[in-house]
Amino acid sequence: MRPDRPPVLPFVTTTRDPLIQFLTGLPAGAAADPVAIAAATFVNRVNSRRPPANWVRDMIWVTLAKSFKPGDTVMQDSTRRKLLLGLVALPITRIASASIPTPAASEGPFYPTGAMRFNDIDNDLVRVGDAVEQAGGEVVRLSGRVLDRVGNPLPAARVEIWQCDVSGRYLHRGDSGSRPRDRAFQGFGHDLTGADGRYSFRTIKPVPYAGRTPHIHVKVFIENRERLTTQFYLPDHPGNARDWLYQRIPAAQRELVTMKFNPAQGEPTAIVDLVV
Ligand SMILES: [Fe+2]
Repeated sequence: MRPDRPPVLPFVTTTRDPLIQFLTGLPAGAAADPVAIAAATFVNRVNSRRPPANWVRDMIWVTLAKSFKPGDTVMQDSTRRKLLLGLVALPITRIASASIPTPAASEGPFYPTGAMRFNDIDNDLVRVGDAVEQAGGEVVRLSGRVLDRVGNPLPAARVEIWQCDVSGRYLHRGDSGSRPRDRAFQGFGHDLTGADGRYSFRTIKPVPYAGRTPHIHVKVFIENRERLTTQFYLPDHPGNARDWLYQRIPAAQRELVTMKFNPAQGEPTAIVDLVV
């Protein structure tokens, strides 16, 4: 049985917000009906810069709620048209607001297993434990956010990086290079994202080694499941043009795995988001 009136909902103070008053036509401080609640949801989403698909969903919600004002039992034709328009727009905005996933890449032969790592596996790769000595190479910072494909930050994601030292040696038993390894370079580190999805590392700017352009290897785990393995590169390095793995990345997606180090901030910093 269809009720003649919507259920009475608790008073919400957000009707004091001028935008909600505009959207709902309710006076400031009015007792809330479903319209005000839907409008409050919409305004909160806009304020928190949620993807457009969510705004469209909220506008549908507002329209729907408006169609069930006290006394109204039949949906107006104009309301129905707006709802249909919104339902058509929803998948379009969802596609438009979706982020391109970070392109995956080979793990390579030198991912250090647990037994090969130092006890120190923190996010500062230029110092191992309490050692005084700092790793050789140019010290840089690498950070960014781990995001899902509609732009929501993913907290508690585990981000791992590994790379060769300034001499081109990996922290891996399989690396048989002849140059001595830099014992002050951690070679592998990890970070856990916070509520904002942010990760950060202190490491060295990657250097070339035989057969490869400079790169940093990256893995992302969410709830202990591996979700992405990729490699980050330097922009405009001459080795990129000869690197077969770099050349396999579609040209339009190379930007997504490129570290542009900004030298104006003390230790040069690059920000690269990871979309999984
Ligand atoms: Fe590598």
